[in-house]
Amino acid sequence: MEIIDGKKISEQIKQEIAQEVNEMVARGERAPHLAVIIVGHDGGSETYVAHKVKSCAQVGFRSTKVAFDENVTEEELLAKIAEMNADPDLDGFIVQLPLPKHIDEQKVIEAIDYRKDVDGFHPINVGRMSIGLPCFVSATPSGIIELLKRYNIETSGKNCVVIGRSNIVGKPVAALMMRKGYPGDATVTVCHSRTKNLAEICRNADIIIAALGQPEFLKEDMVKEGAVVIDVGTTRVADSSTKTGFKLKGDVDFEHVAPKCSYITPVPGGVGPMTIVSLLRNTLQAAHNRKA
Ligand code: GUN
Repeated sequence: MEIIDGKKISEQIKQEIAQEVNEMVARGERAPHLAVIIVGHDGGSETYVAHKVKSCAQVGFRSTKVAFDENVTEEELLAKIAEMNADPDLDGFIVQLPLPKHIDEQKVIEAIDYRKDVDGFHPINVGRMSIGLPCFVSATPSGIIELLKRYNIETSGKNCVVIGRSNIVGKPVAALMMRKGYPGDATVTVCHSRTKNLAEICRNADIIIAALGQPEFLKEDMVKEGAVVIDVGTTRVADSSTKTGFKLKGDVDFEHVAPKCSYITPVPGGVGPMTIVSLLRNTLQAAHNRKA
């Protein structure tokens, strides 16, 4: 059994990105520039955004954080998006989700110019991804694919079971695993809350991607010997022994499942660190697209 070290791989990729930025700047091009819009004071969102801003600095990107109060109107937010769409000094930007209830999230996502949508949430990017055209792929699915690639894990003809059908993980990762080429060419089954015989379907899987957001859902008896298990869960559970007062729990019962696996991602330190790196890579791509 080998543990997939997302932290190590993400550091490696950050170095690769930093190197590319150095070369761009040496050629006289300006460094990539990412902006992040955050609304309100959701604890998780503030932490994620702080990480994104810090990671930009680590690879030599310029970053801008725009913070709105909880009661910003949808019109004000849309006006800011229109301004960012038109800003030639900005390569890409994201609006951190979730948004307060009075704002229509889908409307906000669709207001972003798809060429600057480095989150890959715009329907144009989602559509392009599903038919295999160049696009921005959202961070978590693209981080998972990158991990499989960096560990040379065979996917062709493999039975891949995705648990969860969310727009930001389950659906896109299923589409990527079934596309032509590597990593891909898998036979994909998507399971969800209405699936019958879920355990039996999982037992037949060579690769399981657990993305349902239910701590320790995937148990030892649901996994066959030698399977590859990718754990996308990041549920915060209270834990008084930690500095933050919580710890992250994955969707996999790691202790009992890991011994049966050929490869497995831990939580934390597996898929999580890869997501910010995917955002950085998309932003770098957006900067390269400037000339295109
Ligand atoms: N909230 C949780 N994950 C994400 C993400 O990848 N992008 C944005 N914009 N919001 C999020």
